[in-house]
Amino acid sequence: MDKKKASVLTFREMKREGRKITMVTAYDYAMMSHVNRSDIDLVLVGDSLAMTMLGYESTVPVDMDTMIIFQQAVSRAGRNTFLVGDMPFMSYEISIEKAVENAGRIMKEGFMDAVKLEGGRRVADTVAAIVRAGIPVMGHIGLTPQSASQLGGFTVQGRDVSGAVQLVKDALALEEAGAFAVVLEAVPAPVAAMITEKLGIPTIGIGAGPHCDGQVLVIHDLLGLFDRFVPRFVKQYAAMGAEIRKALDAFAGEVRGGQFPATEHSFSMKDEVVQGIMDRLKKEGIL
Ligand code: KIV
Repeated sequence: MDKKKASVLTFREMKREGRKITMVTAYDYAMMSHVNRSDIDLVLVGDSLAMTMLGYESTVPVDMDTMIIFQQAVSRAGRNTFLVGDMPFMSYEISIEKAVENAGRIMKEGFMDAVKLEGGRRVADTVAAIVRAGIPVMGHIGLTPQSASQLGGFTVQGRDVSGAVQLVKDALALEEAGAFAVVLEAVPAPVAAMITEKLGIPTIGIGAGPHCDGQVLVIHDLLGLFDRFVPRFVKQYAAMGAEIRKALDAFAGEVRGGQFPATEHSFSMKDEVVQGIMDRLKKEGIL
């Protein structure tokens, strides 16, 4: 039976009832068709695709048009799953009008159910404007990869009193602006616990400890498909990269050894038809 698609209200209810929210990233049709048949509650078409799908060093290079292509692919397989589309770097910083317009494109062209953007108080007015346009917004604070350069790298955020207080204020500002959930990335567990306790909207942690209302992982990390680097907070639930290499080596070995293709992988033909083809080719001087 098809699972029932969640809504922003579902996630609030899950927080109230203490039921953990599960989120993964997905970027393409084939992977999303598996996620759609799993127990995962919501999916992010994250700008992490810059690294996992396109091989860039960071999320900075991807633009709106690229994000929309991946969002469309996921949406074609993800009809039963609540889908969040990431707003790429520079798609919401230039002006609030531009941000609303780009969030609208993610909904209309990418077929997403919500958008996500990075930042706390600095983007609160933008979040409020997008929400006023009728578009659900997921916030993202802590380690915000689009501004990693400004943060001094991919490092844990909110480790001292002042940093932690800034994070709490950022989270509150996002809730006030109308965000329906907030991702907390690379935040000490006690700080994430304080934010989770304080907010009425759910927190979704990645490297933010066990007290968040939900957890998100990049699907390539979770499945063991991306080994350029593996952050400390990742748990690999499968070794798909190794499985893929095993399958590819088996294919290459069988082709070279003559075991593939076997009779069942080939299309046969009646002997008299084969003979007829040879006769005709001979007659026409081709054989
Ligand atoms: O782009 C992404 O994958 C993300 C997650 C790490 C939350 O933003």
